[in-house]
Amino acid sequence: MKFFIDTANIEQIKEAASIGILDGVTTNPTLISREKGNPEDIFKAICEIVDGPVSAEAVSPDWQGMVKEGRHLASLHKNIVVKIPMTKEGLKAVKVLATEGIRTNVTLVFSPIQALLAARAGAAFVSPFVGRLDDIASEGMERVEQIMQIFSNYALSAEVIVASIRHPMHVVRAAMIGAHIATIPFKVIEQMMKHPLTDNGITRFLADWEKVKNRS
Ligand code: E4P
Repeated sequence: MKFFIDTANIEQIKEAASIGILDGVTTNPTLISREKGNPEDIFKAICEIVDGPVSAEAVSPDWQGMVKEGRHLASLHKNIVVKIPMTKEGLKAVKVLATEGIRTNVTLVFSPIQALLAARAGAAFVSPFVGRLDDIASEGMERVEQIMQIFSNYALSAEVIVASIRHPMHVVRAAMIGAHIATIPFKVIEQMMKHPLTDNGITRFLADWEKVKNRS
């Protein structure tokens, strides 16, 4: 499974990249609003750090506007993937951009049928939001299982990005289901590396090493 980071924070992206596990980045208008600077400069800076898909979101309400924005965003850097919301207008934009060779990531997907529509329209990536489904007492990961089954039934080439991840168990379940990608907040990446027995083990080894290190 590929790991993307779900942030627009340059320091977090650099840190995750330095661990050697980073395959791409997803941003959205909320994440961009938390950072300083012009959005295009942020997208370009991210593309210089990560050699993989970097999602930048189009915000126009109509397909013509999304296509125009998409062409512009894609022209900023070869790594840019245009994020398009899962609406009727969004699907129209995905279709046009796909014919021009511009990759899209259909976002705000909450049902298997939305995912199927996005893949059929020509999306390169489809992003089901598991955490926001869990928030309303719906099973986010079950939607991912259904989407993976449907994509496999029809050998659809769109990759599934498990998004809106809240904790490491979302990542474990995504991996067990066989989802292509998980886009993960920095805090959860840090949690994924931790285990109390690892910390206890290091403490004990260091303490024991103190006892023997000066032996001749
Ligand atoms: C994905 O591309 C989105 O940016 C993100 O995962 C949304 O997560 P949230 O529900 O925590 O805002």
